[in-house]
Amino acid sequence: MLPATRLQTTRPVRVLGLFFTALLLQVAAAREVTPGPDLGEAIYRNGVLASGKPLVGTHRTGVRRQGADAACVNCHRRSGLGAVEGRSAIPPITARYLFRPRAAKLEDLDLPFVEGIRPDRDPYTEATIARAIRDGLNSEGAPLGDLMPRFALNDADMAALIAHLKRLDQRHVPGVSGTVLHFATIITPDADPVKRKGMLDVLEHYFKDKNAVQRETPRLRSTRVMMFKVNRIWELHVWELTGEPSTWEQQLKEKIAKEPVFAVISGLAGKTWAPVHAFCEHAAVPCLFPNVEVPVDAEQDFYSVYLSKGVLLEAQLIGSRILDPKRDKSVKTVHQVYRAGDTGGAAAAALATLLKTRGVTVVNHSLLQSAAKEDVAKSIGKTTGADALVLWLRRDDVAALGAAPSAANVYLSGLMGGLERTPLPLDWRTRTRLAYPFDLPEQRRVRVNYPLGWFKIRGIPVVDEQVQADTYLACGILSEAINHMVDTFVRDYLLERIEGMLEHRIITGYYPRLTLAAKQRFASKGGYLVRFADASSARLIADGDWVVP
Ligand code: HEC
Repeated sequence: MLPATRLQTTRPVRVLGLFFTALLLQVAAAREVTPGPDLGEAIYRNGVLASGKPLVGTHRTGVRRQGADAACVNCHRRSGLGAVEGRSAIPPITARYLFRPRAAKLEDLDLPFVEGIRPDRDPYTEATIARAIRDGLNSEGAPLGDLMPRFALNDADMAALIAHLKRLDQRHVPGVSGTVLHFATIITPDADPVKRKGMLDVLEHYFKDKNAVQRETPRLRSTRVMMFKVNRIWELHVWELTGEPSTWEQQLKEKIAKEPVFAVISGLAGKTWAPVHAFCEHAAVPCLFPNVEVPVDAEQDFYSVYLSKGVLLEAQLIGSRILDPKRDKSVKTVHQVYRAGDTGGAAAAALATLLKTRGVTVVNHSLLQSAAKEDVAKSIGKTTGADALVLWLRRDDVAALGAAPSAANVYLSGLMGGLERTPLPLDWRTRTRLAYPFDLPEQRRVRVNYPLGWFKIRGIPVVDEQVQADTYLACGILSEAINHMVDTFVRDYLLERIEGMLEHRIITGYYPRLTLAAKQRFASKGGYLVRFADASSARLIADGDWVVP
């Protein structure tokens, strides 16, 4: 394993959009009489006071911020556990960290470890917390650092906010015991069986390996941090869903009630992941980097993070090429071919929306799931008059495409078609551009050799290299984040740690670079359009630069 990188960088970012602010205003108005639990949260996370007015934060320098920009969450984070940003530490402010007795050294504190802890000061009281927030003085009356703004809050708002700081304390986190960390992986019933096997192989070996190392490592007591690292065993629960998507969220609720887990790792979807995404948000469980072609594009959500936007990113890549005035100048009409109900439907809809807003005419040829392969070739025949043809088709359909089309520009989903193994017929091979939301094969080789070597040593057959490399990557990110957390097992904090460490990772598998700022939920943001170098080989060449649409 590579050495764990240091955590860093948390950017103050607005957490929720206007929609949520409006929603919270309504909540605030409705609850004016008896401050409910949401009031403190609205101040903390969204910078909205009980009156509906924005929170205002004033720095000593005179700089004023208000509303979401002034909210505590920007610095102290959603978990309240703070962060270390460059050289400035933002302290944890959940109640137990504020009320704890003075300690001469970090080692003497009986609290889960976080980086920004300040051991050597008097405990706060509710009155001195209010003073810290209003006047910027610490528990001993000394001025706090300049980064902490002052907030003029009335007594009711202050009480609601302090109540929120108390609620942020989590003594018992489901899925975490003194000896075991429980994780689940989720597989939808329509997931590809080959990918399923490939993913589970990687996950099971990763957990086994991790636990073997854990058992062998003696407990190091040299430092406080090491002492906290109680060697917990990782346990994997495989949650296989059945039946219709409309029933999945309920199934997941039942599973988590029976087998509480700290987080969901990886996972595999067929045509949709939306009910699983909804479950993760509602149950407040981190769902980390599942293998899905169509993720839910909702960056105001918190708990689901994805490696990329999948076919939706492909739609953006193709769209930005079609609309690029320097390239496909003459594109006025675009035809798309896909099977209804497959992931290409969502991608085709996203691309159509993008193109139509720019005045391009879009004609969709939607085939039934049950349509014969020959019907695909027939619908290609109906695309005469298209300046560009976009195919959202799987391998079998691609292999049966038939005669080459009249359209000058042909685009195909690399994810659906099979990337460099896409079985394009000869006539189509060199003229079709594939959307390719990964680094190019020769550029990622060194990074991908790492998991491939790991698979080989463990006898894991490579049945879908990209899915298995992504699964391995998800495990590696989880493991690194859990290391950073030491013994502070809080779900929101897990996501914050991932946000903080991701961009420093060197082993990023199929992706040139991964980052997650506080409001981002897709770690890799761009991709290529590629072509086959010639009619016979699988060699790809980039058709243009890496694009972040
Ligand atoms: C722009 C970043 C920022 C924002 C926004 C912010 N804080 Fe702070 N806060 C800090 C920093 C930095 C410190 C540590 C200051 C120091 O170095 O003395 C701090 C310190 C504190 C402390 C004292 C902790 C201790 O251990 O002494 C409390 C309490 C606190 N903040 C509460 C809040 C609350 C509540 C909000 C929202 C209403 C908030 N802060 C908003 C950056 C911020």
